[in-house]
Amino acid sequence: MSATDQTKRPAPADIAARKGGVPLVMLTAYTTPIARLVDPHCDMVLVGDSLGMVLHGLPSTLGVTMEMMILHGQAVARGLSRAMMVIDMPFGSYEEGEAQAFRSAARLMAETGAAAVKLEGGAHMAPTIAFLVARGIPVMGHVGLTPQAVNTLGGYRVQGRGADGDRIRQDAAAVAAAGAFAVVLEKVPEALAAEITASVSIPTIGIGASADCDGQVLVVDDMLGLFTAFRPKFVKRYAELGAEADRAIAAYAGEVRARRFPGPEHVFGDEPGKA
Ligand code: KIV
Repeated sequence: MSATDQTKRPAPADIAARKGGVPLVMLTAYTTPIARLVDPHCDMVLVGDSLGMVLHGLPSTLGVTMEMMILHGQAVARGLSRAMMVIDMPFGSYEEGEAQAFRSAARLMAETGAAAVKLEGGAHMAPTIAFLVARGIPVMGHVGLTPQAVNTLGGYRVQGRGADGDRIRQDAAAVAAAGAFAVVLEKVPEALAAEITASVSIPTIGIGASADCDGQVLVVDDMLGLFTAFRPKFVKRYAELGAEADRAIAAYAGEVRARRFPGPEHVFGDEPGKA
């Protein structure tokens, strides 16, 4: 099934059932207009904590708060009618323990209408994932490069090369065994991503991973060329909207300075009844 022949909004169980089938399509969205654009084409839309860097100019995702996630989650929900919405649990909202994670996840879902939460971490987060799933909260895992751990990982580097591959294999297996309905594999070697995809029972969603994953995700501002502060190798630019916006803004500024804007068609006459 593809997003285009979908007759009802997929639930987490429908996504899990797509293991090994037509690849799952996921993009991020942080606002209503972008949610409206991606909705017809995606199986899942992620309100990612990448919004901290992409929209708010933060240096990492560590400063993202529950309030930011809820505000953007509510905006995205207004723009979706077909795709399933997943929302990121921000740094500091779930790591203390299972009860804290449940409170945060329940609040994110209740206040935004998201169908599922995503949280970062492998084997060490498995008990938390199992706790949430047992209490009615569908969880998407996220292993490999986990950006909230940038300071302990030593930067945004590839995870799982060589002997370190076992750590990522165990993380993905633990997340699946804990009951996650899908798992993001970020920035891991291609062969490792393909091997994990073949070995776990849940769909893998790749970003900087492998075309063999059960689905792919990108940050929408990256693939549209709207976020240009840096460009990871795994980003394919499908459009250059940033360059197009720059051209349009420069044209506007030039016309204002030359008194060519507004033109006669943009101003109002004195006669009542005319728009
Ligand atoms: O926050 C985010 O956008 C993400 C994706 C890149 C997977 O976690």
